[in-house]
Amino acid sequence: MSKPNDLDAFFMPFTASRQFKANPRLLTGAQGMYYTSQDGRKIMDGTAGLWCVNAGHGRPSITQAITDQLTQLDYAPALQVAHPKAFELANRLVAMTPPALQHAFFTNSGSESADTAMKIARAYHQARDDTERTVLIGRSRGYHGVNFGGISAGGIANNRAAFGPLLGDTDHICDTHDLARNAFSRGQPQHGAEMADDLLRLIELHGGHRIAAVMVEPVAGSTGVLVPPIGYLERLREICDAHGILLIFDEVITGFGRLGTPFASDYFSITPDIMALAKGLTSASYPMGAVMVTGEIYQAFMQGPEHIIEFFHGYTYSGHPVACAAALATLDIYQDEGLLTRAAGLAQQWEDGLHDLADCPHVIDIRNIGLMGAIELAPLPDAPVKRAFDAYLRAYDQGFLIRTTGDIIALSPPLIISQSEIEQLFACLRDVLTHGD
Ligand SMILES: Cc1ncc(COP(=O)(O)O)c(C=O)c1O
Repeated sequence: MSKPNDLDAFFMPFTASRQFKANPRLLTGAQGMYYTSQDGRKIMDGTAGLWCVNAGHGRPSITQAITDQLTQLDYAPALQVAHPKAFELANRLVAMTPPALQHAFFTNSGSESADTAMKIARAYHQARDDTERTVLIGRSRGYHGVNFGGISAGGIANNRAAFGPLLGDTDHICDTHDLARNAFSRGQPQHGAEMADDLLRLIELHGGHRIAAVMVEPVAGSTGVLVPPIGYLERLREICDAHGILLIFDEVITGFGRLGTPFASDYFSITPDIMALAKGLTSASYPMGAVMVTGEIYQAFMQGPEHIIEFFHGYTYSGHPVACAAALATLDIYQDEGLLTRAAGLAQQWEDGLHDLADCPHVIDIRNIGLMGAIELAPLPDAPVKRAFDAYLRAYDQGFLIRTTGDIIALSPPLIISQSEIEQLFACLRDVLTHGD
């Protein structure tokens, strides 16, 4: 019989569960930059939760908006009826994303946004009678969530290995990580624009006329902050345009100020045809995602008899009233506090502090852009992943939540972080890295 506080019942996501359950790390509160742990310690959030709490924790105006919305209209069906805040939010997103993106489709997570983006891409070509265009291209080391489309276009072996057969008609271009030429780059690496030409190989292989879309994270986050080389994204856009291929940016992490611009599309001055969003949309206060599309894509669906549904896709909770209220309150905070560009002012200090750690033992690369950073460690010869995970545990003991992926430490604090908190975070990391194995 399980007790209410028995740790066994919960089948945990992406967690070393047996290690965790032997020595649990339970968080019971959060405010601003800090969590409170069950044993009453303050823990600085060095990762904005999971790259998502961009406005910091416990924002009263978001709480109020959620409470008010629950009281007024807790739920309205998402299909064939709607509620005003969904339209208000769609308009706000259209106004703040690049001008070509004219319509918003709502989801509940980044995984749903990624799969929705891929479905829109295929269905768009179908709607235009370009029916051969079904191939979806992702990138090695890409992360697009955990649904079948996302893991099929995604390029992380462990996330795919146990779940086949995966979605057909998918393929991958090579990743942009080039340690030999680009280690310790500050911001965008110099070398590797030509890696975008790997798409030409797949065009040759599948036929350009068969490729529906290419989906990439402008900066790959989950596999360790892989910053695109200078000229790479421009080249990818160029090749897509030349072959009628849609370009999807998965901005689930890079959206909402992470790079010091509202979106990575602004940072790199490249507009995708479809943009996947989630996480920072509500600053993680309520689950929500969105997929932005161009006017041309939307219009391709708006044909046929008017009583017929144009796009056979959607979720019970698409545009949930409480999610919309949370998102609107979050966007107000971003606007009032200038948070979507605040990272630009901190980026130099962030870069310098991060690269100062280059002399710590076992550090083989440091990468940064905006308020994203990664420290790559040489793996222990007989125990890959362990060196970074031990660093994670030591940082947690010292009151700092960081994130690790393989032997890479990834950092992405809430956008409200202060200069002295950045110093404290890096001081902790120096200590942790200096005293590890
Ligand atoms: C780029 C990207 N896409 C999609 C997702 C999946 O988001 P979710 O976990 O909300 O489904 C993530 C999550 O980290 C992500 O980083």
